Amino acid sequence: MAAVWWSRPGTRLLFLLLAAPLLHVAVSLEPISMGIAIAAASAITGYVSFPEFYCGRLVECCQVDKPLNGTALQADLQEKLFGQHLAHEVIYRALTGFLSNENPKKPLALSLHGWTGTGKNFVSKIIVENIYEMGMKSKFVHLFVSTVHFPHNSLTPLYKDQLQSWIRGNTSRCARSIFIFDEMDKLHPGLIDAIKPFLDYYEHIDGVSYRKAIFIFLRYSTTAWIYYKNLLFR
Ligand SMILES: *[C@@H]1O[C@H](CO)[C@@H](O)[C@H](O)[C@H]1NC(C)=O
Ligand SMILES: *[C@@H]1O[C@H](CO)[C@@H](O)[C@H](O)[C@H]1NC(C)=O
Repeated sequence: MAAVWWSRPGTRLLFLLLAAPLLHVAVSLEPISMGIAIAAASAITGYVSFPEFYCGRLVECCQVDKPLNGTALQADLQEKLFGQHLAHEVIYRALTGFLSNENPKKPLALSLHGWTGTGKNFVSKIIVENIYEMGMKSKFVHLFVSTVHFPHNSLTPLYKDQLQSWIRGNTSRCARSIFIFDEMDKLHPGLIDAIKPFLDYYEHIDGVSYRKAIFIFLRYSTTAWIYYKNLLFR
């Protein structure tokens, strides 16, 4: 541009020559950016049809058919659940069995009992992290703590409706939803009744199948580690 100030014929010409291609670029910007947009759109469409490319990178996906890495789970349990041999065994078998079954007949319900310090919450964390990379932060994992989420006995009917609609809503969005109920010993019996139907052998309830969902119940108990697979109460 400074060339214009020198006001010599040659430089003017230079300016025009420079201006000409500049103008051109401006005009062709539209088609070029359109082209980029189209390429980007088809790249995204391509991504969408291959979940393995974007799940965990762009968005978190419901891992309904993702196989469990048994080696990793085994190692996690061994490393972090020290000295709980029986727990280790039961949990490992329950999870690998359930997750490798393409057509389970009912959801997995794991009940973990133990006193404080036995690692109930820890175990649920290990389980969740082996299914969803984001662990407890995953949008497919739902934690309910009795004294926090359902503190007032008088509101039990409301809680019941809410809880059932949350379980229904979340499972219809992602069949492999995980629901963790902490402080089961403090959960109102009315709410326990609200959960029960979801754990049964129904093919579906109002069009939603719960068979791939996972329910984990944590209960304080003065007896040492006891756990039941597929049993809510004992
Ligand atoms: C499973 O986990 C182990 C141990 O963390 C790891 O070495 C292996 O690569 C994993 N396998 C797959 C298929 O991701
Ligand atoms: C899923 O569960 C959460 C509670 O963890 C609740 O706030 C949310 O409304 C539920 N979503 C649906 C679609 O029901």
